[in-house]
Amino acid sequence: MSKKIAVIVGSLRKGAYTRQIANNLVPLFPEDYVPEFVEIGDLPLYNEDIDVEGKTPEEYTKFRNKMKEMSGVLFVTPEYNRSIPGGLKNAIDVGSRPYGESIWDKKPAAIVSVSPGAISGFGANHILRQSLVFLNMPVVQQPEAYLGNVTNMLDQDGKVSEGTTTFFQSIVDSFVDLLNRY
Ligand code: FNR
Repeated sequence: MSKKIAVIVGSLRKGAYTRQIANNLVPLFPEDYVPEFVEIGDLPLYNEDIDVEGKTPEEYTKFRNKMKEMSGVLFVTPEYNRSIPGGLKNAIDVGSRPYGESIWDKKPAAIVSVSPGAISGFGANHILRQSLVFLNMPVVQQPEAYLGNVTNMLDQDGKVSEGTTTFFQSIVDSFVDLLNRY
């Protein structure tokens, strides 16, 4: 049976480099894995006061139900102020509640950080990793995927080179290996 993989992009802007990178990763999954973009931009800021029976925003419920179908999560994110964008942290918080019903629990994940700069989103990559440890998600360790100088990586059509594709394939292969172990 095929397994669905959520692709969560940390940037909300149109034309995001991270989404372009995600578009290059998606076709590299084997046939029995079905990557699907899960959007996080319409989730209201997490607030326990509204996350109660009868009041829970439908966006929360929709997101949680969609994520329950997923066997794993590929995070592709930029770095904001040496951390992850607020929208991505918000999605993680929404998915982690109600207490005891986290949609993240035991889902294997891979993290790809993306930046136009040389530090390559290292801060975002590891801060995200910190939350995933707490959320009980096994995360691909090698190869590490810090993509720097991304503007040089993408051509006019948003495609990466053959050499970069080979590296991307090694990321996906490691992720699939991890998925197969769970
Ligand atoms: C940034 N950017 C950035 N880049 C980086 O490498 N480290 C950082 O800490 C930050 N901080 C940061 C904060 C905020 C609020 C913004 C808007 C941007 C630059 C960022 O990498 C750049 O805008 C990317 O193009 C964002 O990724 P997308 O949207 O192209 O995927």
